Order: sequence, then structure tokens, then C-alpha cells
Amino acid sequence: NSEGPDAKNLRVKLVLLGDSGVGKSCIVLRFVRGQFDPTSKVTVGASFLSQTIALQESTTVKFEIWDTAGQERYAALAPLYYRGAGVAVIVYDITSPESFAKAQYWVKELQKHGSPGILMALVGNKADLQEKREVQVQDGIDYAEKNGMFFIETSAKTADNINQLFEEIAKRLP
Ligand code: GTP
Ligand code: MG
Repeated sequence: NSEGPDAKNLRVKLVLLGDSGVGKSCIVLRFVRGQFDPTSKVTVGASFLSQTIALQESTTVKFEIWDTAGQERYAALAPLYYRGAGVAVIVYDITSPESFAKAQYWVKELQKHGSPGILMALVGNKADLQEKREVQVQDGIDYAEKNGMFFIETSAKTADNINQLFEEIAKRLP
């Protein structure tokens, strides 16, 4: 925790949205505990975790993370979790064009009903599965750019870009 005259301790509510199975819970588990669970269970309703990172010497950011359930039967609950969120992380699986379409659905939903000025990140997860890739990097880049979002590809399995995702979000906080 940072102290002193210039200390800034930020706190932000972050919601993860995206199709079931894209790896939202694995991203959170990797970020918060440094672990990967290949037998991760589908999330029921939503789960809450928090994690604090140091940004510069005197700034910390506490992420209050709502990891939502991607299964269709829980879709109606999503507004309960994205309401009041300062950050939305919208995740798809680079091996699944259906999940990329679903990510675009969430972007539109948040543009309509999310907090004004919500910071949105688009995440292409499972980047370790290059040989099964069906969504091109450029498609993610283009869609994110058009919608004023931050874009990154990650792998919860190898930990590639997981910390970077949260650091880049922290840097962009108002
Ligand atoms: P819901 O809770 O139903 O919304 O799904 P979710 O998005 O939370 O998916 P979850 O994190 O449970 O991961 C689903 C499956 O994908 C699990 O079998 C994970 O082990 C696997 N998985 C998650 N991330 C990665 C990754 O980066 N690479 C690979 N290869 N597999 C991953
Ligand atoms: Mg989950």
C-alpha cells in the first residue's frame, strides 16, 4: 500500500463479460492467485474477487472484480454486475468466432446501458491455441479501435499478457 503526500489509492469496480467457456474465470484466477485450472467449472451467477496492484511508486489500484457467468441462462443477471462498473473486460476465445460475435453483443449492450464513460477492454483469450485460431488478431484490433476500446490477446494457461491486461487498464483509469 502506498503512503505519503503523493500517495493515491484507487479503487475500481471491474466486470468480466463474455461467452461461457472463453476463460473469464481462468483469467481472474491467473491474475489473483497466479494459478491455472484446466478443469475450471462454469460459473454460477457470478463470483467476486479483489486484487490490488502497484502502478507507480505511489499509486495502487484495487480491482473489485465481478466474474460473471457466461451461460445464456444467466444473461438477464448481467446488468446487476455491470451497473456502476468503471471497467468492463469483454472476453472472447480466439478459436471461436461465435464467442467473438458474443463479445460484440456485450460491447453494444454496455454502450447502451453501461455507466457513462465506462472503460472497456476487449480480450482475445486462449492465445496459446495458435493452431486452432479462427479469429485473426487484426479483427480484434479493428473492432476495438472502432469502438474506442483497449485490445489485448491473453493466455490464462501460459499467463501471457494477463498482468499486462490489468496494468494497461490501471494506466487508463480516469
Ligand atoms: P463461464 O463461467 O461459463 O462463463 O466460463 P468462463 O469464461 O469462466 O470459462 P473458464 O475460465 O471456466 O474456462 C473454460 C475452459 O477454458 C476451461 O477448461 C479452461 O481450462 C480453458 N481455458 C481458459 N483459459 C484458457 C487459455 O488461455 N488457454 C487454454 N488453452 N485454455 C483455457
Ligand atoms: Mg466462469
